[in-house]
Amino acid sequence: TILILDFGSQYSHLITRRVRECGVYCELLPCTQKIAELNFKPKGVILSGSPFSITDEGAPHVDPAVFDLGVPVLGICYGLQQIAMNRGGQTGLATKREYGYAELNVVRHPGHIIADKLFEGVADKTTVWMSHGDHLDQPPKGFTIIGTTTTSEYAAIAHEKEHIYGIQFHPEVSHSAEGTKILKNFVIGICGANANWSMGSFIDKEIERIRTLVGPHGCVIGAVSGGVDSTVAAVLMKRAIGDRFHAILVDNGVMRLNECETVKHTLNDSLGINLTVADASDLFLSRLKGVTDPEKKRKIIGNTFIEVFEAEAHRIDNENKELGRDKIEWLLQGTLYPDVIESISFKGPSATIKSHHNVGGLLEDMRLNLIEPLRELFKDEVRALGSLLGIPDDLIWRHPFPGPGIAIRVLGEVTPEQVDIARRADHIYIEEIKNAGLYRKISQAYAALLPVRSVGVMGDQRTYEQVIALRAVETKDFMTADWFEFPYSVLKRISNRIINEVHGVNRVVYDVSSKPPSTIEWE
Ligand code: XMP
Repeated sequence: TILILDFGSQYSHLITRRVRECGVYCELLPCTQKIAELNFKPKGVILSGSPFSITDEGAPHVDPAVFDLGVPVLGICYGLQQIAMNRGGQTGLATKREYGYAELNVVRHPGHIIADKLFEGVADKTTVWMSHGDHLDQPPKGFTIIGTTTTSEYAAIAHEKEHIYGIQFHPEVSHSAEGTKILKNFVIGICGANANWSMGSFIDKEIERIRTLVGPHGCVIGAVSGGVDSTVAAVLMKRAIGDRFHAILVDNGVMRLNECETVKHTLNDSLGINLTVADASDLFLSRLKGVTDPEKKRKIIGNTFIEVFEAEAHRIDNENKELGRDKIEWLLQGTLYPDVIESISFKGPSATIKSHHNVGGLLEDMRLNLIEPLRELFKDEVRALGSLLGIPDDLIWRHPFPGPGIAIRVLGEVTPEQVDIARRADHIYIEEIKNAGLYRKISQAYAALLPVRSVGVMGDQRTYEQVIALRAVETKDFMTADWFEFPYSVLKRISNRIINEVHGVNRVVYDVSSKPPSTIEWE
């Protein structure tokens, strides 16, 4: 394991990402981590960058015990300053700040094995990405220069006898041309870490971990939605503990056309998961009656979900009792690594822990423990894992679908009739997107039903009906997004079909707003 200490840089999670790509397992922990309290012995340590300047009041500092571990250390940007501080070097505010591209001139020391290891196989001149204010005035004693740029005389340094390296640039960003090679040189060449982290080994390890955690009789419950995360987590649980894992699919009455049946078929019939479908659609729809405020809709759906889920869990618990099984003690959550990073990353002088679990209430009420098998993975890794677990492609590549479902895509009051219109339009829209081979190019697409009517003409009849707004976006992280540039012919076919086939709609519009300032959902 490689330990990455996070000083709050926006790129910290990318370091993790790149190290994993080298096949090496690593853990990201806040820079406040006390080395004596680590529950593993790392093969090497990487110190990340930081939004802080080393001279700021409250600037974070690494536990000096890092340097007594006797393992290689690599400091990136602010991490370099930490090394310099620890080893008595001077740092100053850069007279020339460096942001963006720079050319790194690698300085080699023939015969000097330690210093030259970091840039082994890297071109003599290589493009790197800089983002810093502080720089080194003078390297600490015992260090030698291994790289310079036109503005930094000490852009990269290495200790002459110990495996300690500091670099001013960010090898983790894709703009640093040979960044991954440099990180690989460090984790494999210098730290000697094994490149044995693969999805297959992850599955075996995770199944073992779940079995140990839950014990030979323990029971786990979890909600599934038909989305990729909850499905992958559920299949992993099923592999680990079979029918002692109970999945619950809550039909909230605002899911997509035939969604419940499809999810049930895939999870239960094809993947063999012990699944209960709780049909609470009437309850949800009755509570949504007369409500138009988006936030209220969200709250009603969230609270009702917890209520229904809890009742189901109690029912299963009672059934289990009769079967002589243990009480349910665990709740499965499909939390991914970006959420974990968000909750543990270093945000200032004191690390804040944010709760990101939307079923927090369940944990307390039912005294359940959390089990999160995907907490080390990024989204694309979850997809790769899903493939390996035999989950069909259709499900693996499904666009995300919000918990409040179609309720926030029917603007204004949510009635069964309005949900039905939105559902049918959405179904046609997605079907045509798939027919055009565009589904994977688009990050998320859906049809919203607007609570306005406009005049139209059908045959010789005047119509006065509602409007469907089509939304399709491309995004990497759903924080920012741009609208998708459809070929007109595809839009034409979609609009034609919706107006012809969905009663109550006589007009279709395409949403050309980016996020920000708009959001992806209309409500
Ligand atoms: P916005 O509309 O904020 O959406 O740009 C960003 C992403 O989040 C999804 N979303 C939700 N997901 N519960 C969810 O589980 C919600 O209340 C919710 N609201 C928005 C949205 O679909 C998009 O992928």
